[in-house]
Amino acid sequence: DDPTRPTGTGAAVLLASNRGPVSYAFDAHGELTAKRGGGGLVSGLSAIGPEVDAVWVCAALSDADREAARRSGAELDPADTGGRRVHMLGIDPRTQHEAYNDIANSVLWFAHHMLWQTPLEPAFGPEFRARWASFESYNRAFAQALAAQAAEGAAVLVQDYHLVLVPGMLRALRPDLRIAHFSHTPWAPLDYYRLLPDDVAEQVLRGILGADHAGFLTRRWADAFTACADALVGGTGRTEVAVHGLGADADFLRDRAHQEDVDERIAALRREIGGEGRRTIVRVDRTELSKNIVRGLHAYRRLLTDRPDWRGQVVHLAFAYPSRQDLEVYRAYTAEVERVAQDINDEFGTADWTPVLLKVDDDFPRSLAAYRLADVALVNPIRDGMNLVAKEVPVVSDAGVALVLSREAGAYEELGADAVVVNPYDVSATAEALHTALTQDPEARSARTKRLAEAATALPPAKWFMEQLEALGGA
Ligand code: G6P
Repeated sequence: DDPTRPTGTGAAVLLASNRGPVSYAFDAHGELTAKRGGGGLVSGLSAIGPEVDAVWVCAALSDADREAARRSGAELDPADTGGRRVHMLGIDPRTQHEAYNDIANSVLWFAHHMLWQTPLEPAFGPEFRARWASFESYNRAFAQALAAQAAEGAAVLVQDYHLVLVPGMLRALRPDLRIAHFSHTPWAPLDYYRLLPDDVAEQVLRGILGADHAGFLTRRWADAFTACADALVGGTGRTEVAVHGLGADADFLRDRAHQEDVDERIAALRREIGGEGRRTIVRVDRTELSKNIVRGLHAYRRLLTDRPDWRGQVVHLAFAYPSRQDLEVYRAYTAEVERVAQDINDEFGTADWTPVLLKVDDDFPRSLAAYRLADVALVNPIRDGMNLVAKEVPVVSDAGVALVLSREAGAYEELGADAVVVNPYDVSATAEALHTALTQDPEARSARTKRLAEAATALPPAKWFMEQLEALGGA
């Protein structure tokens, strides 16, 4: 039997992403428990309503995921997925590890976020070649699964840097399909992108150019991709390159942010903040090098050093939940975040004032609680495809929030006009921006928050998705 032959009952719409909408863990009794997946991609795609009958193909990312995938067979138990049809691929652990950690996260993510910083990285030696072969087989596993499940002429929406080879592979298997690829990250500028080995740089571009439609979050990233394609593979050919911005899901957020568990967490945070009328500077990120959490802490330290009036008057809530901890560089970064936060508390803290409240566990209702009470939101990535936190905070803010926003985040294109904009490398300027934000006139702040919320919700995830489906020629 040809595994890529379409089945008669195949799906008309398919999504493919590394991380799916659900992840599994073993509880204390060894039973499988399901949890909603995280990150911008999953938040965006999760808003797609049940009116779209799509099959979502994703990878098993842990032993618990693999066990759930093995038990469920073709599709996961709908009770775990909120009724969605999810097919979790159990790729062998070593291939999965090399594809996800060593190539997608260490090479491609680092290229697009311009994160290579040591004299030893990157080194494209023989180990790299073995890992690249794993990345190819992981992409091939997705292409084959999609080919087997797609109905004649189906629309397939492939997501992100993990799956850049899929469109080309899938087109070779199933020329009848309509294929889109979407990048949730920035795209590297040509001079940085070409640090990849020539054949790899070309293979990635040709992989995406196997799609009919290649989508990006902003014009800046789309233009960078086109520049790379023009220089390295003679242009974008028959692929349409387009921009589809992704905004916050206002209805979901406003509803979720006013449930009881969030109110409880607001009360708990207020107790921890202490003091009458203390201001709050809030950040919420994965512990991710590109989020620039350490420079954000240094900027806060500079604020307390240069402007001693703020001592005892402000608390920095820094929520940095663990991410990609299989990688040494992420573990070291997490430790650095903890060390700098502790240094600040040692240097400035008093009996009744803790300057930094750092939380490294993932608690979504607590993040929403912090969004609601934030006076200032600090979003200072050195580079970011979009950054949904910048868009979510103004939507749920109780009393108005001043947004300190990096000009290197995709969200800057839509929110820059009403934010306090920073160069993320400039720690002194970021400290000054925090001061400016903390002293913003309340009326002006409310008016800006309203405009930010409007801009942030102009492109709801469902619209983002439908636009792409339409671009493929019909829903
Ligand atoms: C970014 C990427 C997503 C990814 C998310 C979380 O938003 O664009 O593809 O899922 O980060 O990262 P993780 O490695 O935990 O999936």
